[in-house]
Amino acid sequence: MPIRPATDADLPAITAIFNAVIATSTAIYADDPFTLDDRRAWFVQRRDAGYPVLVAEDGEGVAGLASFGDFRPWPGFRHTVEHSVHVRADARGRGLGSALVGALFDPARRLGKHVMIAGIDAANAGSIRMHERLGFQRGAVLREVGRKFGRWLDLEFLQKTLDAPGSPR
Ligand SMILES: CC(C)(COP(=O)(O)OP(=O)(O)OC[C@H]1O[C@@H](n2cnc3c(N)ncnc32)[C@H](O)[C@@H]1OP(=O)(O)O)[C@@H](O)C(=O)NCCC(=O)NCCS
Repeated sequence: MPIRPATDADLPAITAIFNAVIATSTAIYADDPFTLDDRRAWFVQRRDAGYPVLVAEDGEGVAGLASFGDFRPWPGFRHTVEHSVHVRADARGRGLGSALVGALFDPARRLGKHVMIAGIDAANAGSIRMHERLGFQRGAVLREVGRKFGRWLDLEFLQKTLDAPGSPR
């Protein structure tokens, strides 16, 4: 399953994947669809920061995406990133999500990152299990910090230490 850096030409498919997740789940705490311009701005910002935006391809085209950004903007958090991963509904359960997240580890290490964070809706048992299998450890659950579909949402943070050669011990 080919995984490669995203290009501008992938942005419509990337936007469609995000918007299907927004419309059908609490995996993204947003109510309204992203516009193509919004995703373009996000993509340019990640690229300018030197952060990867990866896509997985199947016979239908872009089947999933993964990326990371800064966890929090303060300088002391510079060795920590937070990632996201989303797979097209008909392509789930075939290992793409795991492969996409796994493909983020080495780029993060090369950038000297020490810890990768996943902020996952606490009801998203499949994603939590997938991340645990990838070596993420479960951390705090923040109760009722999100709201969507007329109800409160709990957010769970998981973390993986990357042991980047360049990062301080
Ligand atoms: C979570 C997600 C990225 C996993 O991607 P994936 O390609 O299905 O993952 P993999 O095939 O590598 O791993 C499959 C695991 O994901 C879980 N999973 C979640 N939704 C699934 C679905 N619709 N079909 C199959 N497996 C699913 C399964 O529980 C499976 O774990 P298991 O083997 O222990 O049962 C993907 O289901 C997705 O995009 N979901 C909607 C958006 C989302 O939740 N994003 C993550 C936000 S943190």
